[in-house]
Amino acid sequence: MNEEIKFSQKLDHNDPLRSFKNEFINNDDEIYLDGNSLGKLPKLSKIKIKNILDNEWGINLISSWNDFWLELVDRVSSKLEKLFNSSKNEIIIGESTSVYLYQILASLLNSNKYSNHIISDNLNFPSDLYIINGICNTNKKATSTILDYNTDIDANIVLLKNLIKQKPGVICLSLVTYKSSFVYPIKELNDWAYKQNSIIIWDLSHAAGVININFKKTNTLIAVGCTYKFLNGGPGSPAYLYVKSNLLKVLNNPINGWFGHSNPFSFSKDFNQDKGIKKFSNGTPSILSIVPIEVGVDIILKAGIRAIEAKSKNQSEYLKNQINKLLIPLGFKFESPINKKNRGSHISISHLESWRICKSLQHGPIKIIPDYRPPKYIRIGISPLYTSYEDLTRTVYRLVDIVKNKEYLNHSNYKPKVT
Ligand SMILES: Cc1ncc(COP(=O)(O)O)c(C=O)c1O
Repeated sequence: MNEEIKFSQKLDHNDPLRSFKNEFINNDDEIYLDGNSLGKLPKLSKIKIKNILDNEWGINLISSWNDFWLELVDRVSSKLEKLFNSSKNEIIIGESTSVYLYQILASLLNSNKYSNHIISDNLNFPSDLYIINGICNTNKKATSTILDYNTDIDANIVLLKNLIKQKPGVICLSLVTYKSSFVYPIKELNDWAYKQNSIIIWDLSHAAGVININFKKTNTLIAVGCTYKFLNGGPGSPAYLYVKSNLLKVLNNPINGWFGHSNPFSFSKDFNQDKGIKKFSNGTPSILSIVPIEVGVDIILKAGIRAIEAKSKNQSEYLKNQINKLLIPLGFKFESPINKKNRGSHISISHLESWRICKSLQHGPIKIIPDYRPPKYIRIGISPLYTSYEDLTRTVYRLVDIVKNKEYLNHSNYKPKVT
């Protein structure tokens, strides 16, 4: 193990992104491998939140809407536009991913631009599938097909394309899937959908901040996603919605909230929907939760998404090799795509004792925090801005000890609400 640790320290020493770990609050004797679920707290977010409490809300009170807060929302949206290479005024932030997905699905169905059939698959995040189901239950014209590939690991792109051809309409997919981290060929599917008079809504929750997503180059028309994972926006930080400008002309927000009005503070009797992306705003934005998104996105823009993606791929491959060498012989299974091109920034492994192994990781000499997804997945999230090669090596060796010494027997099978 010592040789492996020395080797990983060398890799860390040569890592061009190594200084970015200092941008975050890091706890001693802890390895955090859950940035794919809730990213770490940037140091600057703490300062900015204190400032908003002490000064902007505390002293400046309502004047802060004009002085700071309205432009904060626009500024963060435009930083996301930069990250994803979209045109100006195509991204809005404020609601949760689930709400935006509902809004955009309802809007597409109401537009009559596409057929009323919705396609998704078994790899998609449950909330997205619940929303699709709910839309079909309340909208008599809408139907759906949820494609089941009979595996949690990868999508069968040929099957998916055939289904789109047979039943064109609206497709909803997570660009990086939450269990295995499978990555779809986004441009190929967008172009295919376009040819079949269909449109794909991309859920970028597990992709944003670790994968270089270029809306223009990939012909992406609609996307939604969380900001609290690799974008480090904090618990429950609002999501974003992207709609390409030419589509905005034909889509309407099904919710006529006052922030979607072209001039909310006119308090007019009639609802005059904004013409741009702001039409998808509903109510007052959660300013306290938007402040840390800006900090998170700024760090990513500073580090450069290409460099982040390159490190993620290298670390993911490094971890895969360690898993193959040391953990597979001990009864672990590799539950992510084998080819690094098809993997996002987390790797899933499983074991008959996955849950109790997770508990042992959290309660060992170093606290190691991965996460667990039922029925059996231990997800190891690589956040290139603060995950080191040494973190990954120590985690693998700790897993070896836990299984060899059957340390998991010291823990119960009780599961709290958040795993
Ligand atoms: C892929 C994916 N989609 C949607 C959601 C739901 O997001 P929200 O809680 O913002 O509605 C999550 C939450 O973790 C997710 O991982």
